[in-house]
Amino acid sequence: MSVMTTIAAVRSFHPARSPRRAPRPRVVMTAVRSSTISAHPILTKLQRDCATPLPVLRHVSDAMAADMRDGLAADGGSDLKMILSYVDALPTGNEKGLFYALDLGGTNFRVLRVQLGGKSERVVATEFEQVSIPSELMFGTSEELFDFIASGLAKFANEEAGKFLFDQMGRTRELGFTFSFPVKQTSIDSGILIKWTKGFAVSGTAGKDVVSCLNEAMERLGMNMRVSALVNDTVGTLAGARYWDDDVMVAVILGTGTNACYVERVEAIPKLLLDPNSKSGSMIVNTEWGAFANGIPLTEFDREMDAESINPGEQIFEKTISGMYLGEIARRVLLKMAKEDRIFGESVPEKLQTPYSLRTPDICAIQQDSSKDFEVVGSILHEVSGVNSNPSSRKIVMDVCDTIAKRGGRLAGAGIVGILQKMEGDTKGVIFGKRTVVAMDGGLYEHYPQYRNYLQEAVTELLGVEASKNIVIEHSKDGSGIGAALLAATNSMYEH
Ligand code: BGC
Repeated sequence: MSVMTTIAAVRSFHPARSPRRAPRPRVVMTAVRSSTISAHPILTKLQRDCATPLPVLRHVSDAMAADMRDGLAADGGSDLKMILSYVDALPTGNEKGLFYALDLGGTNFRVLRVQLGGKSERVVATEFEQVSIPSELMFGTSEELFDFIASGLAKFANEEAGKFLFDQMGRTRELGFTFSFPVKQTSIDSGILIKWTKGFAVSGTAGKDVVSCLNEAMERLGMNMRVSALVNDTVGTLAGARYWDDDVMVAVILGTGTNACYVERVEAIPKLLLDPNSKSGSMIVNTEWGAFANGIPLTEFDREMDAESINPGEQIFEKTISGMYLGEIARRVLLKMAKEDRIFGESVPEKLQTPYSLRTPDICAIQQDSSKDFEVVGSILHEVSGVNSNPSSRKIVMDVCDTIAKRGGRLAGAGIVGILQKMEGDTKGVIFGKRTVVAMDGGLYEHYPQYRNYLQEAVTELLGVEASKNIVIEHSKDGSGIGAALLAATNSMYEH
């Protein structure tokens, strides 16, 4: 296997704040009233409300499995949409040629090209670029957004050179489009946007075919490229991971948002069997588990955050476990502590009152501080929230962050077990009787060690030490881009 990777310049990458930061301003200590200790009741209540003992985990995994079945039976049958991906053939390794991928799922989009060399050479070369989406476009019109994306893609395609060879005269370049929002897929290359998530509020896209939106924008620019596969990022991750490992059955994204997909037998999808064109075999199903809501332990802070969000009442699992929200939940707790118990001194800093000012990478960095007196925590709090702290208030902050990360990681683990249980329940031994790989991607999973450990801990608690030995939870970094390109190849309109 030869994997040669060339990485193009990452244009205006807008990463999560790095835990290791540039020198911080000196923190000026102000007198903090000794009443700081009175913040503990808020912490204690938070810990109680966020608790995920085994019975709660078990309830979540059982409810996840039950909701999956209901969602497979009929559209609208449960909170889980169980979207059919129309991916019924996974990459085999024989794919050859030059393919493109576009990944839109958060505040950045990524364009990628990959030269596939068949079984012997596999991935000959890849190259990608990342472009950040100006925030006004997240609230603009559909046409503005897709024109911006298509122009980034056109610029990237124009720079094709070197190891990348498109020698098929007269053919159109083919693109795998990873679109990480809930889409009602109607075929492998078409799908209607159900709703935006993760803070997007672009007008005029919901209810439309997102492939047409992109194809039309590419046409407006006179590009010779077409979408041959529309995939969710989980589906791209599963396809990308399966290319290297036949035991991959499930893929999970834990990043800004969250979701999971898995390989399902067509006979277990009643709503597909009603489709006269359905084939036998298997298909990847995109669960859209972010919408799951059954039995999740919620706090007053979650409820308030949800009520003030742009999609109240929706994506409750996502709001409890994913990167977009963990920092914000912590901020709300700290704000209450600052207001009611003055843990940061007499005044409540304005920055702490700004929604989403404390981000998940910040709470992750807070948890990595092992210094005496938690100096890093002090600097982060000062820089991000304008807060002056002392060692005892910093310890409380660390405990708040840990409580929220713990609940998130453990619930994510229970969700994964729910999916595995559903598959095993249908066909004994198919999951627990052999090695089964869960491919994971997303910044939250990748960069937050405590979260990752809590997730694994919950899986082991639920399955028991023996059974969980067969379940391999593996990081599959950036697999979704290559996965989408591979699916473009698998679904190419040309023979390969
Ligand atoms: C979207 C999913 C996506 C997930 C991870 C969620 O908000 O609804 O479609 O897979 O985020 O990016």
